Amino acid sequence: MHAAVAILVGVVAATATGLALSPALAFLGAALIAYVASHFLHRTLHAEPEPREGTGDAGETGGRQIPADVGPQLIEKLPVPLLLISQRGRLGYANLAAQGMLPRLTPGQHFAHIIRAPAFVEAVSATLRDGLERSFEFTSYEGNERHFEARVSMLAECEGFGPEAHAIVQVEDRTRTHRIEQLRSDFIANASHELRTPLASIIGYIETLQNHAREDPEARERFLAIMAREAHRMQRLVDDLMSLSRIEMNEHVRPVERLPLNRIACDCASVFQPLASQEGITLRVELDPDEADVIGDRDQLSQVFTNLIDNAMKYSAPGATVTIRSAPENPAHPGRVGVSVSDTGMGIPREKLHRLTERFFRVSVPQSRHKGGTGLGLAIVKHILNRHKGRIEISSVLGEGSTFTVWLPRATQLHIVPDEPPAVAPASRAAR
Ligand SMILES: Nc1ncnc2c1ncn2[C@@H]1O[C@H](COP(=O)(O)OP(=O)(O)OP(=O)(O)O)[C@@H](O)[C@H]1O
Ligand SMILES: [Mg+2]
Repeated sequence: MHAAVAILVGVVAATATGLALSPALAFLGAALIAYVASHFLHRTLHAEPEPREGTGDAGETGGRQIPADVGPQLIEKLPVPLLLISQRGRLGYANLAAQGMLPRLTPGQHFAHIIRAPAFVEAVSATLRDGLERSFEFTSYEGNERHFEARVSMLAECEGFGPEAHAIVQVEDRTRTHRIEQLRSDFIANASHELRTPLASIIGYIETLQNHAREDPEARERFLAIMAREAHRMQRLVDDLMSLSRIEMNEHVRPVERLPLNRIACDCASVFQPLASQEGITLRVELDPDEADVIGDRDQLSQVFTNLIDNAMKYSAPGATVTIRSAPENPAHPGRVGVSVSDTGMGIPREKLHRLTERFFRVSVPQSRHKGGTGLGLAIVKHILNRHKGRIEISSVLGEGSTFTVWLPRATQLHIVPDEPPAVAPASRAAR
């Protein structure tokens, strides 16, 4: 702008000289023209853009008015499923999210055929009748059980849907949240039940010792031994719960240490050797300790093998064999290295296999309790493997034995571990 003014001043001065005006007149003329020109240029350059017709003014409307061409797109792309139901109960519109959630939607369909849950039908009918807004919950049992939260209200008129008023229904699938809440309350119920049982037993024995067993040294020794066993069981349970919660808390933190997987498994097996000889179980290790590097957390990988070898021995009778060996490469687990723990023990019924990694799940509760089990060992294994992007595969034949195979991503030269979502192999399926 200033350059333009300077040029103008120059032109005026030159013209004044050409017209042979006095220097004072020339100066005045140049100053006047320069002022008018600079004023004009300033207005041009700093002018506010004209508001576009129909877009509204954010200042006047509080920024709430949506441009006419943006509204439908916005509704279509909203992640919340929306349905428009005409006064006669027919489906007028469903956005993309609604079509994803309810794949069999057809225009004109009666709303009672879209979602057959009584709570949904009642709420939408009532709002179409009285025009009041309602929030409600309902459960659908078609296919899998699903839980929803919904809200229905009336729209006086809907452009593009005729003069008829429509109900707008917003439906949110809350199945996942519902399941998490259910799991949490089941978990608390299970944990307190597991703690209550040994606690009740200890309290019972204390009362017996305080009363009629007071003078009976033999009974006292026997009861004290039981009390000690039960107290240890409680301690193990608390330790396992703490361990599980610690593992879960760090599940998203990828381990970084390069570790020899086979050597870790060998070290764990050697800890069990004395117990195996004592129980009459043959413990065989068929691993090359210098093979199979993985990126992992040493303590947690030891915990995996300790739990698996402990189970293999615990659920096998004297005379059984427990073998720890490298699993042959498997195209179902590309880039992964496998170590299996097999036993010739009691085996697991086929229909129970997919539940083994659930917290507190036991094929036989009395048997596991008798062996001092808390039912958390395989849940801990699963969470550790999730952290390591690993998998567990379980196969078993009732009465013949079981094989638990751990698959972990093989460490590359660059320490890069493939980034995949955590998964459990189909044979064992994810615990809840
Ligand atoms: N090798 C196996 N042979 C037979 N059954 C097994 C074997 N491993 C696990 N199971 C079954 O799976 C159940 C769950 O195992 P998990 O290790 O989670 O719990 P636990 O052994 O009962 O207790 P914990 O490991 O917490 O002391 C066991 O109770 C048992 O019924
Ligand atoms: Mg166990």
